[in-house]
Amino acid sequence: MILLDGKTTSNQIKEEIAIEVLQLKKDGIRVPHLAAILVGSDGASMTYVTAKVKACSKAGFESTLVDLPENTTEEQLLKEIETLNTNPEIDGFIVQLPLPKHIDEQKVLMAVNPDKDVDGFHPINVGKMTLDLPSFLPATPFGILELLERYNVETSGKHVVVIGRSHIVGRPMSILLSQKRTTGNATVTVAHSRTQNLKELTLQADIIVAALGIPEFLTADMVKEEVTIIDVGITRLKDDTKKNGYRLAGDVHFDSVSKKAAFITPVPGGVGPMTIAMLLKNTLLAAKNRS
Ligand code: GUN
Repeated sequence: MILLDGKTTSNQIKEEIAIEVLQLKKDGIRVPHLAAILVGSDGASMTYVTAKVKACSKAGFESTLVDLPENTTEEQLLKEIETLNTNPEIDGFIVQLPLPKHIDEQKVLMAVNPDKDVDGFHPINVGKMTLDLPSFLPATPFGILELLERYNVETSGKHVVVIGRSHIVGRPMSILLSQKRTTGNATVTVAHSRTQNLKELTLQADIIVAALGIPEFLTADMVKEEVTIIDVGITRLKDDTKKNGYRLAGDVHFDSVSKKAAFITPVPGGVGPMTIAMLLKNTLLAAKNRS
């Protein structure tokens, strides 16, 4: 079994980006500037946004955190987005999800200037991605492609079962892996909460992307020998033996599934760190597109 080490791989990518940024500085070119909007004080979102801002400074990027209270109105948020859309200092920005319930997520994502949409969530970027045109790829599926590529995991002609059809992970992942691209050309099945006989499908899979958000859902009896496992889930489970009172679990029962797998991502330290590296990659691309 080979561990798909997202921590080491993402550090390599971040180093590659930092070297490019140093060169930009030497050439007297402005360094990339990423902004993140955070609405409210959801614990996980605060952790993710803080990690994104920290990664910017490590890579030599400028970063701005727009921290808004929970009771921010949709109108106020749209105004903040417009400010970032038109601010020439900002190359790219993200609106951290989920948003408070009183705000229409779709309306907000549509308001982001597609040229600064480094999350790749705007319909224009989703459309371009679907048509295989140059665009910002959403960070999680982009990170998974990069991880598979850097570990030389063959996808061409393979059967991939993606469990989950979210706009952020499952749907784009299924589109990208079926496309004619270096890490692609796969036969993809998208499974979801209404799928019948899921085990029949996962037992046929050469590669499984688990992105359904149910801790330790995928068990060893559901996979074949030599399978490749990509675990996107990350859930805090109560654990009194831990100092902080919890442990992090993926959507895969790692201890049993890893015994059958050829490649598997750990949680934490697998897909998670890759997403931040890919956000930086998109921001660098946005900066280059503007210069
Ligand atoms: N929430 C969970 N994943 C993401 C992501 O990739 N981008 C943003 N903006 N919010 C998220």
